[in-house]
Amino acid sequence: MTNFVIIDGKLNRFKKTITVDGDKSLSIRWVLLSSLANGVSKAKNLLISEDVIASLKAIKKLGIKSIVTKNECKIFGKGLDGYRYKKNLTIDAKNSGTLGRLLLGLLINTSFPIRMIGDRSLSKRDFSRVSLPLSKFGAKFKLNNNKSLPLTIFGSSKLKPIKYFEKRGSAQCKSSIIFGGIRTNGKTIIKAKKSRNHTELMCKYLNMPIIIKSKKNYDEICITKAKIVKPLNYTIPSDISSSAFFIVLTALSSNSKLLIKNVNINSSRTGIITILKKMGVKIIFKNQRIYKGESIADILIKSAKSIKSINCPSKLNSGTIDEFLVIFLVAAKAKGVSYFKNLNELNQKESPRLEWAKIILNKMGIKTITTKDSIKIFGNPELYIKKKIVIRNFLKDHRVFMTCVIAALSFGGRWKIYDKDSTKTSFPNFLKIIHDLNK
Ligand code: S3P
Repeated sequence: MTNFVIIDGKLNRFKKTITVDGDKSLSIRWVLLSSLANGVSKAKNLLISEDVIASLKAIKKLGIKSIVTKNECKIFGKGLDGYRYKKNLTIDAKNSGTLGRLLLGLLINTSFPIRMIGDRSLSKRDFSRVSLPLSKFGAKFKLNNNKSLPLTIFGSSKLKPIKYFEKRGSAQCKSSIIFGGIRTNGKTIIKAKKSRNHTELMCKYLNMPIIIKSKKNYDEICITKAKIVKPLNYTIPSDISSSAFFIVLTALSSNSKLLIKNVNINSSRTGIITILKKMGVKIIFKNQRIYKGESIADILIKSAKSIKSINCPSKLNSGTIDEFLVIFLVAAKAKGVSYFKNLNELNQKESPRLEWAKIILNKMGIKTITTKDSIKIFGNPELYIKKKIVIRNFLKDHRVFMTCVIAALSFGGRWKIYDKDSTKTSFPNFLKIIHDLNK
């Protein structure tokens, strides 16, 4: 079967309303917290993507049943100590750093060792960033090369609370330690650089023992052992990271307008909106509301007449981390040179994304200057691609694939982009929505 797309030419103007797939971060957190609940939790609009299916399979291996139907997903939690499994268990986190890292937090008290594996991309990623702090609780780990998957976790029955300083702005690290804290008597204290706070908001909504003090540049989180997790019925809003591709496509298309419905606009995720507004893109939140602690809105975007370059403040990095690749396309069309810095974390993702940004932009004819953690992009407001471009061997990174599709539709050229199945990781309806925009 052909696992590539060919895109030949720009997209026509469009004026549409769309709904993108459910939020990946919230979907995985809902699965994991529901697996600890006393009773049945139900979710609507759960993202049915490979990362979330891997999460459901992981809890199944731990003895927790789930049922997915067209309209809803049910998880039959058996309480905080309800995991039941045989010896020699292996859990496959597939492509998902979020699943792998968060689940390890919940497994620090496991009575039998559990092996965790992942796909080729996940096996290249750093797991010592969670195994080191989780070992301080008392769990033990054996990692491949002391750093990565496959790993084995050996739980402890004598866990001690820890103090942890999360300096990267990584929500996965922070959440993994919060989950460790849920399992541990005494006060676990986390000082965390600001990052997405969905775990905290879900735990708070569930009345779990978590206290969050928000300071200017970091949060102080205190968590103690949870006694009970209530079942959680949740309607998952749409993912702003998936919306990002369509926000950029609209900004770069001429005379177009798009309304994206029911998007999670939690302020720890809206770096892309701040950045694009600074660059001159018109974006409006409509129908704003709060749902179970999260902020939701419809996002209205209009094509930008002219785009300004940006010297992007690093404080926006954590809240934009999954959107940089596609934002760089906007910088490619800006008047002047844009600068993005302190982006070390970008090379720690499903593929080394800063390296891929350079490759893609250069193929498009855009000049860049990169260091190991920064990129300068020399924008060209007249950019119009006429040549052939082939993109392959990017470790099946879903966001590399989708960024290239948006580049092709925005700037023209004849693109052959491999690994279209990668969209199944986070956004299975991506190509269908693109198709419908063209109707
Ligand atoms: C995620 C956190 C981010 C992000 C990832 C999802 C989460 O990773 O890149 O796609 O759901 O917690 P880091 O925490 O490693 O920055």
